Amino acid sequence: MLNSVRRLLPAFKPLLFRTSLSLHSTTAQRSLLRPRSYSPVTNMSTYNTPKWWKESVIYQIYPSSFQAHPGAKNEQGVGWGTVKGITSRLDYLKSLGVDIVWTSPIYKSPQADMGYDIADYKDIDPIYGSVADVEELIAECKKRDMRLMMDLVVNHTSNMHQWFLDSRSSKSNPKRDWYIWKDPKSRNEAGTPEPPNNWAQILGEANSAWTYDTETGQYYLSVFTPDQPDLNWENPEVREAVWDVMSFWLDKGVAGFRMDVINMISKVPTYPEAPIVLDPATHKYQPGTQFFVNGPKMHDYMHEMYEKVLSKYDTITVGEMPGVDSEDEILRTVGANAKELNMIFIFALVDIDKPNVRMALKDWDVKELKSIVSRWQNVMIERDGWNSVFIENHDNPRSVSRYTDDSDEWRDKGAKLLSLMQTTLGGTIFVYQGEEIGIKNAPMEWDPREYKDIETVNYWNKCQTIYKDDPEKLKLGRKIIQMKARDHARTPMQWSSSPNAGFCDADTEPWMRIMDDWKTVNAEAQMKYEGDELSTWQFWQRGLKDRKEHADVFVYGGFEEVNKDDENVFGYVRTSKEGEKWLVVLNFSGKEQKWMIPTKEVEYWACSNYTKGRADKAKSGELVLKPWEGVLGKVSG
Ligand code: NOJ
Repeated sequence: MLNSVRRLLPAFKPLLFRTSLSLHSTTAQRSLLRPRSYSPVTNMSTYNTPKWWKESVIYQIYPSSFQAHPGAKNEQGVGWGTVKGITSRLDYLKSLGVDIVWTSPIYKSPQADMGYDIADYKDIDPIYGSVADVEELIAECKKRDMRLMMDLVVNHTSNMHQWFLDSRSSKSNPKRDWYIWKDPKSRNEAGTPEPPNNWAQILGEANSAWTYDTETGQYYLSVFTPDQPDLNWENPEVREAVWDVMSFWLDKGVAGFRMDVINMISKVPTYPEAPIVLDPATHKYQPGTQFFVNGPKMHDYMHEMYEKVLSKYDTITVGEMPGVDSEDEILRTVGANAKELNMIFIFALVDIDKPNVRMALKDWDVKELKSIVSRWQNVMIERDGWNSVFIENHDNPRSVSRYTDDSDEWRDKGAKLLSLMQTTLGGTIFVYQGEEIGIKNAPMEWDPREYKDIETVNYWNKCQTIYKDDPEKLKLGRKIIQMKARDHARTPMQWSSSPNAGFCDADTEPWMRIMDDWKTVNAEAQMKYEGDELSTWQFWQRGLKDRKEHADVFVYGGFEEVNKDDENVFGYVRTSKEGEKWLVVLNFSGKEQKWMIPTKEVEYWACSNYTKGRADKAKSGELVLKPWEGVLGKVSG
């Protein structure tokens, strides 16, 4: 909740400790210095050339928490989402307006990092189902004119993948070079080895990014956790194996891939020491990201992937690319002629509250939010690239809590405000499971033990070790968990007011605690809602429908930010090639705001997050916006 963030932040400054690696850099300062003008789409550009993957609405499923089919439990006997569960909800997704279902990893995995540690790329983990279940899901999608997108996690495998088991078995094993093995930097007198360099683990920054193997006396690189050894992309056999995995799933009919940390596949080959940015008294290891984000051979590998696989299929591809802010560098991947990927996730917006590490807090304001959004809208139009539009995913807390006010009074308005913004921005839109009903962060009262994510567990262990005698810092650690943990996005989906929110059987305990408000905040109630305004779900449905009907404006149109200096209100005009214009005005504050309509005249206000249909508001001159109000107006030609 923004206001509470603001209340809390002065007390947090300066941050006394930093807690995770800086994967994503903040872009706001730079963009504030660079005001941009209106971005029309030029005739030379292919930006507004229609493509199915540009217009599609993508819905991200976090599979363990989406839907368990009747009787489904994992080995521990707890309720766990399944592939059959996903299939059973396709009609729901269709009615929301979804075209492509992207599921986070469901491959065979020990689940050390919830499936982002894959032990077999061609098999499905039994807790989710089977390959046959996925084939059924693909077929059921097809019947509904929908498609399935898979998560491709190939920067690293699980330490239980056969490739790695072979690799670690001996120094002479043919798979040894499939991973990154190095000798210890040194050994002390007792013979205890030191890692090859000082890089810290990303999901547990108190620890080294290198894991020692006693059998062979070497370290392997594992930048996320020891359970996730990094593949050695320098080895052509590794790349061939990845191309083979991709073709395997594309041949089964999947639409394409979301590619996990795909900009980390090339490492600086000298493995230099990382600069000291975290307090060395408490942090022996330091962020080494600059040496493996967009590394020296990344684009060579991406081109090879395009040549060997992607060019042979009509796919959708989105790269997860944290830590890159350079427009030139990003355009090398998503430019229309780049021959790499359709789009990437740019993290500037979801990292707005991040100083240089993720599990920490930073003050931010609405002008920063406006400048980040406007910057990337303009860049892609001007330079013929393509955006993904998203504000939530499984690695971030809930947007309604983060960018608006999640109190009972304002939560619906805030969730709808964010929906209005996203459904009217250019690019391919991604909706995250539960965002469509405005699920919010778990409250402060939740004990840290309710949090299951490895990052949170490592973070809290670290706090308890380093700050055991400092109650203030421990309290701050708790607050950071409440505001930033990835777990907030991973609570089970709230389907209905039935037991366990309809997520799993009534007599089965869900694998993770369901948010306490599920009896009132759930999909069924919001779909049926009848009142003076639309529920969050209905508002999303409306927005996605309007977006499709006016794709030439909202997906492909030009973008112009208006009244840029306003400190609370984000206003922009979207214009189609034919000159159809829509004005979006979003009040990102809990106070009434007055705002001068910059265009000649608004013909009508097509929607507001306060009304069911059209809104009755001033059509020129001064517009009065209620707290957290967002409106969409058709502008006279
Ligand atoms: C990014 C994924 O989104 C995240 O959930 C995961 O922990 C890391 N990559 C490692 O795969």
